[in-house]
Amino acid sequence: MPFPKAEKIWMDGRFVDWDDATVHVLTPTLHYGYGVFEGIRAYPTDDGGPAVFHLDTHLQRLLRSARLYPPLDEIPWTVEQLTEVVEELVRLNGHTGGCYIRPTVYLGYGEIGLNPLPSEPRIAVATWEWGSYLGEDSLVNGVRVMVSSFRRIGKNTIPPAGKANGQYLNSSLAKVEALRAGYDEAIMLSEDGFVAEGTGENVFVVRDGRIYPPPLHDGPLGGITRASVMTIARDLGYEVVETSLVRTDLYLADEMFLTGTAAELTPVREIAGYEIGPRGPVTEAVQSRFLDAVRGRVEAYRDWLHVVSV
Ligand SMILES: Cc1ncc(COP(=O)(O)O)c(C=O)c1O
Repeated sequence: MPFPKAEKIWMDGRFVDWDDATVHVLTPTLHYGYGVFEGIRAYPTDDGGPAVFHLDTHLQRLLRSARLYPPLDEIPWTVEQLTEVVEELVRLNGHTGGCYIRPTVYLGYGEIGLNPLPSEPRIAVATWEWGSYLGEDSLVNGVRVMVSSFRRIGKNTIPPAGKANGQYLNSSLAKVEALRAGYDEAIMLSEDGFVAEGTGENVFVVRDGRIYPPPLHDGPLGGITRASVMTIARDLGYEVVETSLVRTDLYLADEMFLTGTAAELTPVREIAGYEIGPRGPVTEAVQSRFLDAVRGRVEAYRDWLHVVSV
């Protein structure tokens, strides 16, 4: 699929044309994966411009990820300044119908050793129009997932508290394995065999009307969608219990779903040959509330949105 280009990309304080937003081939992040990034979505709203979902929280996580990887923490940009950058970019690129937003902090060209400390940190923000991550009908019909033979990177290997470029080698290995085996997505287990998450999504199991997300100490990224969905589910009256899960808890689930900025809230209809079935009632109730919330249709969650006037 060709990349859905937009007009401009912001790099270190300047808006540059999409095709001019290039870096040198010897930029160390390209060689060692030493960088951090975010994935953010803006949705169209009924009564205004596009609304960026949890913009603050995502930008705070970006800067928190950067703190784990010095000297990326030395970029001279605050959450407030980056908020203005995102607003301006969404406006410049005319994303009235919503978009995906990708800030990235990386090492600039000039050094190539494994010591990142002498490098200069750089920052860029890009936006583009991006539809359903796991396929157009996945939100309704669900996806087929397998349990990956690749374990999720350990807490003391690459910390899941950050969202670093290099950790996605682990995700992509699992993703390729799943696609080649005819599945849409993979669930990864932690080194000690507990369910961690999908390759770019958090996972939730539903059993007897209760909702079970694996706890963060089992290694998933602390997803912003995960936290929002937990709030929505509790507000709808569901009991949400963070519990360590093993592989067979997935096979025996009444319902299962994945959450993430890219995947939104996607039902799982099959896990490794075990039929879960079509989107179940709990998944549907939470998903429908979530999809309304991101479009500004739920008053209680309006403060999760940053509306951009375009
Ligand atoms: C590995 C991984 N897990 C979970 C998520 C979901 O996180 P969020 O809801 O903050 O997008 C992502 C996406 O950022 C991810 O890359």
